[in-house]
Amino acid sequence: MRMALRFLVPLLLLLGGIAWATTPLLGELIAQWLRADVEMRSQLVFESIQDTVIRNATASDSRRIDGLFQRVARDERLLAVGLCSPEGRLIHRSATWPLTLKCPPGAANGAAFQVEPLNGGTVLSAAFALQEEGARIGDLVIVHDLSFIERRSAKLERYLTVFLAGLGLVVAATTVVVARLARRDWVRAVRRGLAPTARGGTADRSLPADIAPLVREMREMLRNLDVPRGISDAIRVEWTPDTLRSLLKSELPGAEVLVVSNREPYIHNQEGADIRVQRPASGLVTALEPIVRACGGTWIAHGSGSADAATVDRKDHIQVPPESPAYTLRRVWLSDEEQDGYYYGLANEGLWPLCHIVFVRPTFRAADWAQYVAVNRKFADAVVAEAQSPDPVVLVQDYHFALLPKMVRERLPGATVITFWHIPWPNPEVFGICPWREEILQGLLGSSILGFHTQLHCLNFLDSVDRLLECRIDREHGTARTGGRETLVRPYPISIEWPPSALVGQAPVPECRVAVRRGYGVPPAALLAVGVERFDYTKGIVDRFRAVEHLLDRHPEWIGRFSLLQIAAPTRSKLPIYRQTQAEAEAAANAINERFGRGDWRPIVLVARHHEPEQVFTLFRAADLCLVSSLHDGMNLVAKEFVAARDDEDGVLVLSSFAGVSRELSEALIVNPYDHGAMGEAIHRGLLMAPEQRRERMHLMRAMVSENNVYFWAGRMLLEAARLRKRRHIEEQIDRVTAPFGRRPRGTA
Ligand code: G6P
Repeated sequence: MRMALRFLVPLLLLLGGIAWATTPLLGELIAQWLRADVEMRSQLVFESIQDTVIRNATASDSRRIDGLFQRVARDERLLAVGLCSPEGRLIHRSATWPLTLKCPPGAANGAAFQVEPLNGGTVLSAAFALQEEGARIGDLVIVHDLSFIERRSAKLERYLTVFLAGLGLVVAATTVVVARLARRDWVRAVRRGLAPTARGGTADRSLPADIAPLVREMREMLRNLDVPRGISDAIRVEWTPDTLRSLLKSELPGAEVLVVSNREPYIHNQEGADIRVQRPASGLVTALEPIVRACGGTWIAHGSGSADAATVDRKDHIQVPPESPAYTLRRVWLSDEEQDGYYYGLANEGLWPLCHIVFVRPTFRAADWAQYVAVNRKFADAVVAEAQSPDPVVLVQDYHFALLPKMVRERLPGATVITFWHIPWPNPEVFGICPWREEILQGLLGSSILGFHTQLHCLNFLDSVDRLLECRIDREHGTARTGGRETLVRPYPISIEWPPSALVGQAPVPECRVAVRRGYGVPPAALLAVGVERFDYTKGIVDRFRAVEHLLDRHPEWIGRFSLLQIAAPTRSKLPIYRQTQAEAEAAANAINERFGRGDWRPIVLVARHHEPEQVFTLFRAADLCLVSSLHDGMNLVAKEFVAARDDEDGVLVLSSFAGVSRELSEALIVNPYDHGAMGEAIHRGLLMAPEQRRERMHLMRAMVSENNVYFWAGRMLLEAARLRKRRHIEEQIDRVTAPFGRRPRGTA
């Protein structure tokens, strides 16, 4: 006892002294951090809205700017937003602007921050100079409520004191009294306190009193990270390449971005003596390319073009886009044998029909699987070789790389692996027929985050894991935990860049209408529907031809007055089912044209040729209607591109209910593509739709796509990744605290 006191008293005095000296300092430090964070957020908001504000500042209609301020000020910590004239007069403000608050002194150039008391609290006013053509037109003022900083600092000081006191007691007790026994109990208590109970709560009633404050503090930190916060949820800003860049800089500072996909964004092909660059018809490439252009980094993909090898450097690198390089494309070479087994075989004859339920039987061959494993390993080697840091952010794309996440995780344990599955995920009964189902699931669960387009696909995936692996599933939070690791399984509906670069330089709609009709042999006055696809059996191309046949049968008034222009890029033609799909579509188009055609007029103009994005946009602008009749599709970006091309707010979209995009574009005419009659009637309705109704629907669809653009898609995933990285950091600290007493199982990466 005497010994205990001899040890305990000086120790408590020492800890008390440390607590007395350090807690105010730490509180101040935290306050400074939080304030810097608020200033950074103000900067981010300013960058996101400055263009819109400048554009509308001088317009006579102030509703847009007021509306924008209202939306931005909805963030709980952001008190108000206002626009002050250079003379310090308040011109526009959100309704939340405090009446007693004056315009702060502005910054002649750049930003000025001012902290002042207001209504019993403290606010920070950040004034950003708005410049138009070199002249200052006013200041954008963003007001933040800072009272939370005082609360947080005070809380932290309290916790720190309790923590140090608890720690002192525990250390003394463990050292002097019952070293071994107490040590075991302590560790058990911390584990119990941190471990979630079966109902998702925490078991703290049984915690010893001296452990409770520490456990509570740690738990609170982890819980705080679980609250989906951050820019995407708190501030609905305009998502642009700049927003994404700022986000990367602030939330994932210094992070190295590596993208892995099978299809490359730029293909170099030898054509005679020339080398031509092609941008492939791939939803994946359409979505990812603007992201990598904005963030930089390295994109690792299969070099499939005939001049690809001739255009790379000695590290197989080439800087792209060719016209203004922004990132590195690293090409990986595959032999014919590898391509046959991995790409044509397992990926496109096995997984593609397995995941798309369109009644094409998947084929599984052991030899294809062996190539699939080998090629996944080859790409994992490339990731490891390209990584300059131990903890890169690796964005793995699609069904070609189901095994890669686990392979990367084993070799780069600190990596944050975000995998996105661009196609549907079937229910467990269907998925269960795959002979390598466990390996595929385990491979994907190497991801930190696994994204699908829809909640249904997430649930199908979790059900498959539940059915086939030893795993703990939490459907409410969308997590699967296996082998001590957790993977977040979340829906992230993919989208397109906004504004779309393919729109730049497009002729006005009336000119596009004339040019396209002339170019494709459609009578000048005929109404035009367009379809743009790869020649894939999942796209329902023959089904839409049958719908046109029904239309002409039932409504003969359209004969000679309506055509469907179908662009179909040949794809995966080495596979019999793809050749068959093309042959069937051509036969169906010929039969319908023969039956209804008159003179030069044909109801179906089928062009089996690749079109570059700008050409596709011109077709969309020329059309009265766009037909997307997928029999099953993860998202389908053609529908979003059609909407993006119509800056005249005209045009009708007829859309399959089996494409993921139908969840977002509900103002389209939604159809069942298996019901040819109903689809034919929908085309009829679309062609007759009144202009105001077309405009209203298109307006709403454009608002949806512009807000939920691809920068928002990527931003949400990167924010989630940042949260996981912070969480891992805290867990490492917990490990450090508990290490002397035994290891705690690790969580997410
Ligand atoms: C789908 C897949 C993509 C693929 C694209 C084109 O959109 O999800 O991964 O790139 O089809 O197919 P291809 O086989 O030509 O790359």
